Amino acid sequence: MKKLNIAVIGAGFMCKAHVVGMSNMPKLFWPSPVMPVFKTVCDIVPEIASEAKIRFGFEKSCTDWRDVIADPEIDAVHVCTPNDSHAEISIAALNAGKHVICEKPMASKIEDAEKMAIAATEAAKKGIISMNAYQYRRVPAIVFAKQLIDEGKIGNILNIRCQYLQSWSADPNSPLSWRFQKEIAGYGALGDIASHVIDIAQYLAGDIDEVVSIMQTYINERPVQESGVDSLGTVKGDVGAKKEKVDTDDEETMLLRFKSGAVGSLEATRNAWGRHNFITVELHGTKGSILFNYERLNEIRVCYADDPDTERGFKTIYTSPAHPYGDATWNIAGMNIGYGELKAIEMLEFAKAIATGEQPSTCFNTAYRVEKVAEACARSSKSNQWEKV
Ligand SMILES: NC(=O)c1ccc[n+]([C@@H]2O[C@H](COP(=O)([O-])OP(=O)(O)OC[C@H]3O[C@@H](n4cnc5c(N)ncnc54)[C@H](O)[C@@H]3O)[C@@H](O)[C@H]2O)c1
Repeated sequence: MKKLNIAVIGAGFMCKAHVVGMSNMPKLFWPSPVMPVFKTVCDIVPEIASEAKIRFGFEKSCTDWRDVIADPEIDAVHVCTPNDSHAEISIAALNAGKHVICEKPMASKIEDAEKMAIAATEAAKKGIISMNAYQYRRVPAIVFAKQLIDEGKIGNILNIRCQYLQSWSADPNSPLSWRFQKEIAGYGALGDIASHVIDIAQYLAGDIDEVVSIMQTYINERPVQESGVDSLGTVKGDVGAKKEKVDTDDEETMLLRFKSGAVGSLEATRNAWGRHNFITVELHGTKGSILFNYERLNEIRVCYADDPDTERGFKTIYTSPAHPYGDATWNIAGMNIGYGELKAIEMLEFAKAIATGEQPSTCFNTAYRVEKVAEACARSSKSNQWEKV
């Protein structure tokens, strides 16, 4: 089995997710397409880099990502830094002939996302893989929903309603991490979480053609974070600390028109008390409906129009060995998978793409389209009009 020497750049939250995913990938999916070797972990903060080397079992650590790019031993680079450095690192890695999996959103600026898509298109000609980490489309229940749609079981899609609701930034005293700073993050909730549901919506219902949107910021300043890695706002802010300006969005509400003629709506907020990782998709077709909620990710609810009048309604299906990826995870429905297994599924798709030379469904060109939808949404919130993607 071919070895894949990997490097992870940025050793925070997502480094943990990528390492858990990559190291479990061959344990769950056997034989695996490649065998990962944990070569280098890089973080600009030296203590974080050296701790990650020990904790995650890398052979070495460094503090300058350029050392990773220059290392001929590295085959694949995982870009897990904040959004403003995704483009520079990913493009350098692709140009050096390394496969790249980059966290979402693609970049902090649409121009950078375009440059990434161009670099990935060039690299693809040499068999180099690019991938963005839109893992939620790979939840077995969502892949199964896509199969039902493709088989015509739901008929023509009329409407898709999507939400991504969280609460971690609802507390005005949660600290001013990089996620609230436009220069680093680009957008706020739009890039951070709406992007995931834009990706799911386009995966299931095809390309979005135009949008109308309202973007809001509710909390305009936050206490400055003293030090350390952002922990998605779960770090308790120092209430007495100096406050600085938030210049990203907290929430968006949008209406969507798809190229197919379907319509939809999408809401994303990180200020919804009581909601945690509440990703919902409700899809209505001419022959039935589908309902999914990530907080119950092992279930999908389906209603078929041709069920008898007395029995028509949503039924709950537990994803099982009979469903996508199910034969390799756990062998009884109800044993359930979680975020860790989902990241292993994502790493499997990255590894498969590397082994076969076929770009994954979330390659940089797919991700660039998500960025274009987000950009149209931002435009619409200023113009107060429908905007073309
Ligand atoms: N796919 C998902 O569901 C998901 C979830 C959370 C975050 N993310 C994305 O992952 C990326 C990282 O987010 P996170 O939550 O891990 O952030 P984090 O703040 O926990 O970690 C980022 C790490 O990168 C390091 N870093 C910053 N600039 C660097 C540079 N130039 N070179 C090397 N290291 C650098 C920081 O010191 C920090 O340790 C972001 O793009 C974010 O949007 C994706």
